[in-house]
Amino acid sequence: MNYRHGFHAGNFADVLKHLALCELLRLLASKDKKLFVLDTHAGAGSYDLGSQMAARTGEAEAGIARLLAAPRAGMPAAVTRYLAAVSAYDRKFGPPAAALRRYPGSPRLIRGIMRATDRFVACELHPQDALSLRREFAGDLAVEVRQADGYHAVKAMLPPPERRALVLLDPPFEATDEFEKLARALRHGLRRFATGCYAVWYPIKDEAAVAEFLAAQAGLKTVRLELHVPVDGTKLGACGVLVINPPWKFEEAMVEALPWIEAHLGPGVSARLVASPATEPAPAQAS
Ligand SMILES: C[S@@+](CC[C@H](N)C(=O)[O-])C[C@H]1O[C@@H](n2cnc3c(N)ncnc32)[C@H](O)[C@@H]1O
Repeated sequence: MNYRHGFHAGNFADVLKHLALCELLRLLASKDKKLFVLDTHAGAGSYDLGSQMAARTGEAEAGIARLLAAPRAGMPAAVTRYLAAVSAYDRKFGPPAAALRRYPGSPRLIRGIMRATDRFVACELHPQDALSLRREFAGDLAVEVRQADGYHAVKAMLPPPERRALVLLDPPFEATDEFEKLARALRHGLRRFATGCYAVWYPIKDEAAVAEFLAAQAGLKTVRLELHVPVDGTKLGACGVLVINPPWKFEEAMVEALPWIEAHLGPGVSARLVASPATEPAPAQAS
């Protein structure tokens, strides 16, 4: 396990994933019913953008930093809320500064939106990042951190007693069979809990592998977001987020947000949304 999210925190891929995550959770939490949130690949939870790791790639500069520098006028509501969550987290580390000091990982964003009645389990396998994650939430009884395989957690923790769930699957794609692992985890998850909302991040490098993965999800109700950015050499230049069983109004929020992201993330950026209805009648939606 060599992947460390600290090299990539706040980059274009985080922007797409976390924008979607914040909106999904907000919409799911707007219903007066308990929710279970599972973050299968949680990372360290918090990232120091002044660290050697972050400085080595400077990826946040072409991601979150560009959005924070953009004019607020005309900013879509979902983007405003996401940026507010990022800035609010940063302010815990000192008064508002010209540059962002800390970027919140998915567990921090989830923790900021979930309600007191919701339950949250964050799995992270890397010993160092799992330790950072534990430290990040030390004494916070609302967050259960597990140094465990997130794919196993999908099997072990679904269906949840709450009967409503958001499952974020955000693997590092170090393994050559990561798409197969993801597809298997989704099969297990959906078999156990068909009405859950599943959000999956994936890189767009091997177009055939992406197409095969997406084809395996055909027939499900999905919203798929994609972001392409210009990059040098072998760097990752495109990624997607597939949302299965999106809550009501998620698509609408993303239709509004993506063109703004495209316009403000820099020249040559393109974003798109593809929505697919369920082709078979599904049980009552989990939203
Ligand atoms: C892309 S990062 C996660 C970033 C995080 N979700 C966020 O948005 O802030 C992927 C993480 O998964 C961890 N990981 C790799 N394989 C795992 C597994 N099978 N179960 C749980 N965590 C795993 C890696 O150590 C890495 O920290």
